[in-house]
Amino acid sequence: MRAYEIIQKKRDGHKLSEIEIKFLVDGFVNGSVPDYQMAAFLMAVFFRHMDDEETFTLTNVMKNSGDIMDLSAIEGVKVDKHSTGGVGDKTTLILAPLVSSCGVKVAKLSGRGLGHTGGTIDKLESIPGFKTSMKRDQWIEQVNKIGVAIAGQTANLVPADKKIYALRDVTATVDEISLIASSIMSKKLAGGSDAFVLDVKVGSGAFMKSIEEASRLSKIMVSIAKLAGRKATAMITDMDQPLGCKIGNSLEVIEAVEILKNKGPSDLMELTVALASKMIEYGLSIDNEEAVVKVRDSIESGKALGKFEEFVEFQGGDSSFLKDPEKLLHGVKIYSLKSDVNGYMEGMNTEKIGIAAMILGAGRSKKDDEIDFSVGFDFSKKKGDSISVGEEILKVYYNDTNKLEASLEFLNESLIIGDSQPEKTTMIFDIIQ
Ligand code: URA
Repeated sequence: MRAYEIIQKKRDGHKLSEIEIKFLVDGFVNGSVPDYQMAAFLMAVFFRHMDDEETFTLTNVMKNSGDIMDLSAIEGVKVDKHSTGGVGDKTTLILAPLVSSCGVKVAKLSGRGLGHTGGTIDKLESIPGFKTSMKRDQWIEQVNKIGVAIAGQTANLVPADKKIYALRDVTATVDEISLIASSIMSKKLAGGSDAFVLDVKVGSGAFMKSIEEASRLSKIMVSIAKLAGRKATAMITDMDQPLGCKIGNSLEVIEAVEILKNKGPSDLMELTVALASKMIEYGLSIDNEEAVVKVRDSIESGKALGKFEEFVEFQGGDSSFLKDPEKLLHGVKIYSLKSDVNGYMEGMNTEKIGIAAMILGAGRSKKDDEIDFSVGFDFSKKKGDSISVGEEILKVYYNDTNKLEASLEFLNESLIIGDSQPEKTTMIFDIIQ
């Protein structure tokens, strides 16, 4: 078998067999298939696509390229959640303690942020002392003790995805549905959970720009999980504006604590309740109404916040920062961006807002860039809100004046203020079971 023929077959629109997909992916991981052939193959997939069976095979081959987590030492149904990536998405910080406080075990592996989207590991590390690197046994032991642990993905979790994603990133082949689905689901399946709640973002800050595309991605991911013998639900949710009001690592921890105190923005609360209740439905085999009651009780009673504090302490973090989270912003400067016109927030280009946050220092443009945890944005106005001359649109938390200026340029381009008030859209567009 030669890589050349496999590339040619896909280029001409034919279906590949398991042996062919395995030959190419394993060869790429072990170095016998060079970058230029894998790049050509990815472009062929971009134009010719893969059907559900090929996508499932690709997912499995990728999953098997490295370590596979065995969670059998943890009792009960283990439930994981994944977001396809957005701006201001701090739901994992909220869901992990919340769901675990309701009795469902959460053994989670998360990633760092890159480009316009943030990462859970960076957000957690903005809490002084918090450690995200732990041995596998320690990770499992912690879940057994307190019900929740979040660690960074190990280098050997789906190495095929690391290599393939790096190539997709420089060959304009990231946004192909079968490649996205296999990339996400190979990591989820290797993570070892029994059930998955997938938050598929749609809108200007997401990979998927239309509900139709998001729906196709959701269906294929849910079907991959089922073929692998696991349960999954995908929720197609709004990313046409940032989620919640705060963007930036420490700021997102502060907003997560607000939600766990039963405060915080309504869009974030709505999504939290929907995702958490679905996870609990799977974890405890109860119906959704009952799960929603558990979620609300745990937030209202302070149980979920208590679990967050316990979880932070177990991973070496200083939980006094959760009691008084504003301490995380100590010393940072604040610039208030005010409107010079009257009108309504007609639109928010969320990808540009994410890039503006990255320029400010909240994210990375390259893998080894350092993050400034305390910088970011806090929006007072969101889509559909009326705005008067002189009113604050958002606060920018910054440390470097040059970065502030560069960030404001992007930010100004990303906010569309006009005369017509857009209708408020729903947070959850569709649920695919
Ligand atoms: N997230 C991933 O993990 N992989 C993709 O291809 C896209 C989003």
